[in-house]
Amino acid sequence: MRPGEYRQTTVAVDSFDPNPNGLYNMNGNVSEWVWDYYGAYPTEEQTDPTGPDSGSLRVYRGGGWNDFAKNMRSAYRATLEQDKGNFNIGIRLVRSAAVGTGSVTAANTRTDGSSGGDVLIAYFSWGGNTAGIAEEIQAQTGADLFEIELVTPYSSDYNTVLDQAQRDQSEQARPELSTHVEDMAQYDTILLGYPNWWASIPMPIASFLEEYDFSGKTIIPFCSHGGGRFGQSLTAISKLAPDAVMGQALSIHYSGGAALSGDVAAWLEENRITAN
Ligand SMILES: Cc1cc2nc3c(=O)[nH]c(=O)nc-3n(C[C@H](O)[C@H](O)[C@H](O)COP(=O)(O)O)c2cc1C
Repeated sequence: MRPGEYRQTTVAVDSFDPNPNGLYNMNGNVSEWVWDYYGAYPTEEQTDPTGPDSGSLRVYRGGGWNDFAKNMRSAYRATLEQDKGNFNIGIRLVRSAAVGTGSVTAANTRTDGSSGGDVLIAYFSWGGNTAGIAEEIQAQTGADLFEIELVTPYSSDYNTVLDQAQRDQSEQARPELSTHVEDMAQYDTILLGYPNWWASIPMPIASFLEEYDFSGKTIIPFCSHGGGRFGQSLTAISKLAPDAVMGQALSIHYSGGAALSGDVAAWLEENRITAN
């Protein structure tokens, strides 16, 4: 080989023993990109920490072939801008990862290829776009439709609601809801609709997710947005309903226009939701 030239070799996944959790190649070979954004470690005790909610640097761990031996351990972390790659960084493909969330739902993954059971369409909408999408979903599925409403509604003035929403988000408020699902136990799948507010969920969605037990249920988000698609909303939902399975989420630009019906149909099919 000439200086500076690297030879590509292939190493079978099971060339070395797995760790006690049955995982192969956690250290060495290439460093592993993980979903966490980089941030200072919190000082208090943590259980399964997932890093800060936002940032531009992602963490990689485990050490790669050109690292010092002392870095060949999972506790070692380094960072790189999330849109950059490097010859000593790789990704681990996880079959049951929930798309766009950083969550792995191995124990809960749907394997029978159908949504099963009853479907609820639950949505919050301020300006009507999400409501319109929810109604289109209802027309195509015949599923029950439920609007998440507030005891004290947000202002109908756009500039005021921008401030209110930002305040609620920074305070992590849980606005009191005036509508409640009578018997959540009957639903196995919840199609959860909301507008992208400040690159995340409106806080009434947090109130809703904390009100019920979603363990074993499938939550499939649909999000109306003005260009920011899901923002951090999928991460927020998976943190608030950690025991639910996340389906393939749908993002719709504002009301979805003429493409809405086809987009909804394709999304329902992708998630194997059939008419009730
Ligand atoms: C308070 C507020 C914050 C918003 N923040 C975002 C945002 O961060 N990114 C984005 O793409 N759109 C944002 N939008 C636009 C909405 O997501 C978009 O207009 C959506 O279609 C509204 O749905 P709705 O009519 O069901 O309320 C925001 C709108 C409001 C009122």
